[in-house]
Amino acid sequence: MTKVVSFANNKGGSGKTTTCSSVGYALAASGSRVLLIDGDMQLNLTLSYFNEDKALEFARGDKNLYSALKAGAALDGYIVKTDYENLDIIPSSTLMSSIEFELFTKWQRESILKKALKGIIDSGVYDYVLIDAPPTLGCWAMNILVASDYIILPVEASPWGLFGLANMFEFIDSVREINPALELLGVAVTKVDERRNYFKQTMETLKETEDIKVFSRFIHTDSSVEWAQDNSKPVGSYKKTSRSALEYGELAKEIEEEIKCR
Ligand SMILES: Nc1ncnc2c1ncn2[C@@H]1O[C@H](COP(=O)(O)OP(=O)(O)O)[C@@H](O)[C@H]1O
Ligand SMILES: [Mg+2]
Repeated sequence: MTKVVSFANNKGGSGKTTTCSSVGYALAASGSRVLLIDGDMQLNLTLSYFNEDKALEFARGDKNLYSALKAGAALDGYIVKTDYENLDIIPSSTLMSSIEFELFTKWQRESILKKALKGIIDSGVYDYVLIDAPPTLGCWAMNILVASDYIILPVEASPWGLFGLANMFEFIDSVREINPALELLGVAVTKVDERRNYFKQTMETLKETEDIKVFSRFIHTDSSVEWAQDNSKPVGSYKKTSRSALEYGELAKEIEEEIKCR
């Protein structure tokens, strides 16, 4: 059965896109069939796999999420192949900036994405659908979580990394009124520099927060992540022996195990 996992946190820069892209690559590299969905108007997930010209071509053409949603179409026809086996993507569009407005007039507006995804889920073509969420908590973010089985919360090990997490938990509770099955799979701690106190502080605070699984594989700050993004490649492909590529490989395994236990 296809599992839908979203990477969400209203805090920008927490590592949502990097984690979604890298975990997706690792899952596909180990044989799972993966569909990535770029849910953010900043196109960062799309840019993790395609150069700017190609990403803008998708965005300006109609092979993108916004076009599908605007047309009220099933997402099946908007899938693009990446350079990697078992790994496809639905690109985003800068027009996603007006998605809140578009959704406003729609009937059952929190469930538009879920309905558009139904054909893909029912077909069983993918083991995982991974959705990269924007740093907002509006109707579109609600759509992403309504369409998800699980949410992974990337949290940056920084002084402000945990700020606003309470809002996120409240938001998840309100999503559960529509999607009671939504489970918080775990917190993925990113951009860790163990020499800095923030890391210890972040881990201690998270441990004190009851009922939250924190993935034991946290991700260190690694310049390979930025070089990979600069080269429009997931870090696992850009430099597979880099620290972050290996760590994301381990995190992907941990995520798979956690899903099996649920
Ligand atoms: N492990 C890492 N090491 C170094 N830089 C990272 C790492 N993870 C993310 N970054 C950088 O941090 C910034 C924010 O990450 P991103 O994944 O885009 O977060 P979000 O999607 O939550 O806004 C990006 O510039 C990215 O290159
Ligand atoms: Mg992002």
